[in-house]
Amino acid sequence: MTPWLGLASDAWASAYLAAATPAENPDGVVVIGAGGHAKVVISTLAASGTPVAAVVDDDDRKWGTDAQGTRVERLERARGGRGIVGIGDNARRREMVQALGLDWQTVVHPAAYVHPSVKLGRGTVVFAGAVVQPGAVVGDHVIVNTGATVDHDCVIGDFAHLAPGVHLAGGVQVGEGAFLGIGSVVCPIIRIGRWARLGAGAVAIRDVPDEVVAVGVPAMERKR
Ligand SMILES: CC(C)(COP(=O)(O)OP(=O)(O)OC[C@H]1O[C@@H](n2cnc3c(N)ncnc32)[C@H](O)[C@@H]1OP(=O)(O)O)[C@@H](O)C(=O)NCCC(=O)NCCS
Repeated sequence: MTPWLGLASDAWASAYLAAATPAENPDGVVVIGAGGHAKVVISTLAASGTPVAAVVDDDDRKWGTDAQGTRVERLERARGGRGIVGIGDNARRREMVQALGLDWQTVVHPAAYVHPSVKLGRGTVVFAGAVVQPGAVVGDHVIVNTGATVDHDCVIGDFAHLAPGVHLAGGVQVGEGAFLGIGSVVCPIIRIGRWARLGAGAVAIRDVPDEVVAVGVPAMERKR
């Protein structure tokens, strides 16, 4: 191929791709994942005035579909820039963080309250109606979902997920990767173990060991 032909075809390919894919906002945040949780992440970014650069997913059935006004694209592992993982499943979210080298962003909805003394980790999201009280320490890539409350001096490990309406009393510890189901309640100073799961509506009055699933009121280890 002659050089000028190569140049011409490259120029044509660039023009074609530019028309097919709208230019990304260089100041925007890339959202990894295009499922239900990503919808809320995108709306939280919008509410906090942060533009979305792209929404990407590794599920080819989602490519080309609309995610809150942004067309879903293929996930490229070599991607850079600012990002946030919009995946609710804790193990999957960790997998994405480990596979990608983005500059992870922390996003707080303007209708959430986070006391100024609180430490929030990278990649953590705090959704509308959530409250995080003085002295709490929240790790990296944590989800404080809609209307969840984290009282004073709680410590939340990386990749944990507090589902909507979870209430943590003061001094609670939540281990890495723990999932607390919708509407569950944890009494003061109780520890929820690493990668443990607390069922929807459960009330934890005793510690839940690592990797255990506890359900009910009071929460008891589910029979395996
Ligand atoms: C606890 C939980 C994680 C377990 O999920 P799972 O491993 O798929 O459990 P299963 O649905 O197979 O249920 C297993 C047993 O636990 C019981 N169980 C499950 N969740 C329960 C709950 N929240 N409270 C009381 N019992 C529960 C089931 O009735 C079943 O009992 P059985 O064996 O006597 O029939 C899940 O049921 C749950 O509560 N998820 C919360 C989901 C949520 O909050 N999502 C919010 C996303 S933003």
